[in-house]
Amino acid sequence: MKKIFILGIGSLTGSKLAILAKTSYHVSGSYNLRDPQIPDVSSTKLDIAEIEKVKKSLTEIHPDFIVNTCAINNVDYCEKNQDMTKKINADFVSDLSKISKSLDSKLIHLSSDSVFDGTKKTPYIEDDPTNPINYYGLTKLLGEKPVLENPENVVIRVSVLYGWLHKQISNLQSSSMKPSNFGKWFIERLMANEKVKIITDEYSTPIIADDFARAILHSMEKSLKGLYHAAPHTQISRYDFCQKLAQNLGLNQELIIPVTSKELGRDVVTGFNKCLDSNKMAKTGFQFMTIEESFSLIKKQIGEK
Ligand SMILES: NC(=O)c1ccc[n+]([C@@H]2O[C@H](COP(=O)([O-])OP(=O)(O)OC[C@H]3O[C@@H](n4cnc5c(N)ncnc54)[C@H](OP(=O)(O)O)[C@@H]3O)[C@@H](O)[C@H]2O)c1
Repeated sequence: MKKIFILGIGSLTGSKLAILAKTSYHVSGSYNLRDPQIPDVSSTKLDIAEIEKVKKSLTEIHPDFIVNTCAINNVDYCEKNQDMTKKINADFVSDLSKISKSLDSKLIHLSSDSVFDGTKKTPYIEDDPTNPINYYGLTKLLGEKPVLENPENVVIRVSVLYGWLHKQISNLQSSSMKPSNFGKWFIERLMANEKVKIITDEYSTPIIADDFARAILHSMEKSLKGLYHAAPHTQISRYDFCQKLAQNLGLNQELIIPVTSKELGRDVVTGFNKCLDSNKMAKTGFQFMTIEESFSLIKKQIGEK
């Protein structure tokens, strides 16, 4: 059995990937604050800021694939804590690229639409020029470069990522500084009968984490190399996405208040077009889930809780 080591095994993506991959691979990984305790998957506590400890663990395990899901991805926190953000999102990834090369392990690193400025009129393709407009986006771009210097490695970008976390990690704090993912936050507010303000003027290609995990596994199985976007075909505003999600889950759509980004008054600018074009990955034989399939899956997962 080939070995996968997931850095950030308690992340939304890492936990889904571990569950998906464990039947065909030997899966292990590291966490800092959130240990997902997945049966048949060993997890080790590692602060990735301590690079020598990371190197020692990876050298002992010598995995075929290293998947890095670690990031500080609270955009507002990143703007105010730039040293720590650069350390985790960029400097660590540079060190990790060297370690994976020395072990001859394939590195799969995850990135974001935030490397773009959001001004393009159509979805972004992999070759589009980058131009990050906030510090999170800048550090995600800096992280991509050392990974792609090795032609064996893969970087997969996603736009808005959402999903239902399994119960062991559902309410634990994370060093990603993100209290919850957007979808889960939204569903929980509506379940608590709270009104939520949702922006109408930002478009994205939201992907459920379970499908993102499938795309990561596909990249391993098809030996993909280089840069890919992972995104379903639906391009949708946050507001319309939330309306559809609420409708599918039978939640009260009247609690969703439409606002513009300006009215919401966020401190940090993010682009208006966060849509990614994933035709490059689709051509390798990967079929993304539809938004309806994703909503059915999340409904089932909420029911299992
Ligand atoms: N969420 C989105 O909407 C979105 C959108 C575009 C791109 N992305 C990218 O997709 C990837 C996965 O995102 P996600 O939402 O699945 O991640 P997530 O759930 O927010 O988790 C991030 C992970 O980073 C780990 N981490 C951060 N600092 C660490 C440190 N010092 N030491 C050890 N671990 C540390 C966390 O560990 P602990 O939890 O154990 O502390 C956690 O496992 C990231 O690269 C992110 O930038 C996410």
